[in-house]
Amino acid sequence: MLTNRPRGVNDILPGDVEKWQFIERTARDVCRRFNVSEIRTPIFEHTELFQRGVGETTDIVEKEMYTFQDRGDRSLTLRPEGTASAVRSFVENKLYAQPQPTKLFYIGPMFRYERPQSGRYRQFHQFGAEVLGVNEPSVDAEVLALVMTFFNELGLKNITLEINSVGSPASREAYRGALREHLAPVKDQLCKDCQSRFDRNPMRILDCKIDASNETVSSSPFMLDYLTDEDKTHFEQVKSYLDSFGINYVVNPRMVRGLDYYTQTAFEFIESGSTISGGGRYNGMVEQFGGPDMPGFGFGVGIERVLIALQNQEVELPIEKGIDVFLVALGEEAQKRTVTLLQELRTAGLVADKDYLGKSMKAQMKAADRLKAKQVVILGDDELAQGVANVKDMESGEQVSVPLSELVEKIQQKL
Ligand code: HAM
Repeated sequence: MLTNRPRGVNDILPGDVEKWQFIERTARDVCRRFNVSEIRTPIFEHTELFQRGVGETTDIVEKEMYTFQDRGDRSLTLRPEGTASAVRSFVENKLYAQPQPTKLFYIGPMFRYERPQSGRYRQFHQFGAEVLGVNEPSVDAEVLALVMTFFNELGLKNITLEINSVGSPASREAYRGALREHLAPVKDQLCKDCQSRFDRNPMRILDCKIDASNETVSSSPFMLDYLTDEDKTHFEQVKSYLDSFGINYVVNPRMVRGLDYYTQTAFEFIESGSTISGGGRYNGMVEQFGGPDMPGFGFGVGIERVLIALQNQEVELPIEKGIDVFLVALGEEAQKRTVTLLQELRTAGLVADKDYLGKSMKAQMKAADRLKAKQVVILGDDELAQGVANVKDMESGEQVSVPLSELVEKIQQKL
């Protein structure tokens, strides 16, 4: 137990963490350009927030939440997603009272008790954004453009954008009736959960993994055929903006998202059969949480899935490796001097390191190689007595003697 991590969670070790940092930097950079500000919400919230926000009949709420009682007997839940928290914060902090829209992004861990497999974990990480306060179809397209820009900047290609409209409540009312009528003859053959969803929320049946092979389920009518004129127009306009941005998409009328809050546009970005991002419009949530009637649109990108896609596509991220300077010391006095020299170099802004174990010259040079040092400073007791050190350029192999008083400056010039 002590040496095993829990199932479905991962350590991110040096060597990999640099990729995470690059991805996060790219996300922040793209958000800055789209003028989207960061929000940091708590990792846990009142359980009710997700029950009500994500939806009582979803797999997330029914089966996947990490819920616990705290010592004050409150029911709390580790966040399974970021939208409900962002909207809760938008309402609680009265961000709706500011000029709109409010554009927020977040990067952080989410928790779902799912069966772990490649690309599916119990603690995973999302980069997500939410745009609140505007119902403009151009905003839907703009946010999709943000996600595409993020993928492009990482060097990912061949990502399919699938879109659908799940309609507003008015459209869904008509659709639910049609769906119940279609599924009624096979209701008894459905899984237990779906039998209960039949009355409560029949659209969830379309997202059920167990009943996916049921022919009646897979030949269900399309939501798109039940859209009100207003919803239809919104969808047409989103598509037309995507066309004008040059963003390719496929309409997938079978797409059902795993969360209940969506209205109108819903979408997924797919790479090699895996959904690396999903999201859509959720126009009722702000009001549901006690705020004014304000619309919202957003996405969540799974960072682990982005890493898998980068690996699938053999994309090498431009990660800077190596250090600027490595100090090699020979002799006791020289050892001592490198301690302060190291600090001087680092204070001057250089990436510097040294040997700590009193190794041989050869072993220290090997360490410099392993760390991909650009310059190596070699300091022996004799050089120290003369107030100089040898500086070796590891690329050219050239070695020069430099007065210790000018060392930092000389190395800075060489880099
Ligand atoms: P979601 O589709 O549940 O949407 O999750 C978004 C993304 O998170 C998925 O496309 C996937 O890449 C990643 N993901 C989900 N579950 C796991 C898991 N168990 N392991 C690894 N990656 C996972 C949402 O969470 C919505 N909040 C998105 C949104 C924002 N909608 C509107 N605004």
